[in-house]
Amino acid sequence: MKLCMIGTGYVGLVSGVCFSDLGNDVICVDKDIKKINNLKKGIIPIYEPGLEELVLKNYKNKRLNFSSNLKESVEKSDIVFICVGTPTKKNSNRADLSQVYAVAKEISKSVKKFKIIINKSTVPVTTGDELEKIISKKVNKKFFSVVSNPEFLREGEAIRDFIYPDRVVVGSNDSRSQKILKSLYSPLISKGAKFVSTKRRAAELIKYASNAFLATKITFINEIANLCEKTGIDIEDISIGIGLDKRIGSRFLRAGPAYGGSCFPKDTKALVSTADKFKTNLSVIKSVIRSNHLRSDLLSKRLSLILKNKIKNKVVSFLGVTFKANTDDMRDSSSLKLIPFLSRKGAKIKYYDPTGLKKEFKKLKNVEFSNSIHETIKGSDIIIIHTEWNDFKSINFKKYSKNKKPIIYDMRNIYSPNKIKKLGFKYFGIGR
Ligand code: UDX
Repeated sequence: MKLCMIGTGYVGLVSGVCFSDLGNDVICVDKDIKKINNLKKGIIPIYEPGLEELVLKNYKNKRLNFSSNLKESVEKSDIVFICVGTPTKKNSNRADLSQVYAVAKEISKSVKKFKIIINKSTVPVTTGDELEKIISKKVNKKFFSVVSNPEFLREGEAIRDFIYPDRVVVGSNDSRSQKILKSLYSPLISKGAKFVSTKRRAAELIKYASNAFLATKITFINEIANLCEKTGIDIEDISIGIGLDKRIGSRFLRAGPAYGGSCFPKDTKALVSTADKFKTNLSVIKSVIRSNHLRSDLLSKRLSLILKNKIKNKVVSFLGVTFKANTDDMRDSSSLKLIPFLSRKGAKIKYYDPTGLKKEFKKLKNVEFSNSIHETIKGSDIIIIHTEWNDFKSINFKKYSKNKKPIIYDMRNIYSPNKIKKLGFKYFGIGR
């Protein structure tokens, strides 16, 4: 099929490349000409394992193309995906839909024959209705259908998530589009993905409800972890013990720092805001947002206690600062709260992240990037394992046990407390 992805951010680029790899002709469009030229040269704007190889392969075999000409690209395509950002609006919790609406207006100028216009951006319920109104100002309703097809890709796992999704959700109010979309996704359905066909509004809500549920699950286990810390119980036992109940499920029960990233914080807020608009009180999700917001303060307090309130001049090392492993994304990472807190208190902070130096810390006092794990750990009073990169999973701590032994604060519960304690280190984890 001939597809056009508008927006070469995370969703548009990964989906476009994967669709081309499945044999479709795909044009990825972006108004950022520099980005498009870079992509043509194989320069990828985001860090995502496996993406570069797929871009090079499919660009070479000409199934994948890049363009900054929206009009021409839409005209050449049967299916147009809107994949632009929906960040939180300034000074509010609402999603900013200006980019989605602007793209819809542009598309409406180029529809001459029937096209399916799919919204893949995460948008509040009824946005599809609005898109239909915008496009129908220029195009007869016979010539287009607006569909909602949310994505569930995780950063760092996006290609795998695209190829082996648990489900593909297509929300459409007409059966013709449903059939075409089912056929587009048939290579994934034949590998086991469930095809969930719903009305358009339902698909929009499935996306927000999924993210809010996962955020709730993480917040739940984080709060139980707080109780474990007070009662001498290891949260890992609880996660296993409850996760084996199939009604609960074992995934997303890893206690850790506050959840972050580009989706959970933004989408939980946007869902509450949509519900407010419809005079519905989502009290559970409101509590989740609040609990997660307070979590970084809680971890800062625990850190102070571990350091016996003597933070000034302490050498604090961070292993990993991104919000999770396998991404260079810093959005809503809890390190953005923990590191400034320590800097204000006069600590000397060193950090190492496999994705390199972070501009977010440039202006902070006494914060420096180290070039290796070893450089970061050397001479430190406390090591904070903040992100669960594989690089940090087999550190030879024995090497550091001869001289001054740093305290280890393992915020991802990677290490066995007993093994680390046997080496003579003080060990702290989350909920243990
Ligand atoms: C999420 C959704 O998983 C994905 O379906 C959606 O399309 C986009 O948002 P992502 O933000 O990439 O994906 O990361 P995810 O792996 O879901 O983790 C989000 C946050 O939760 C991270 O801060 C992570 O560290 C945290 N997390 C996740 C936990 O603390 N514990 C867990 O068990 C799982």
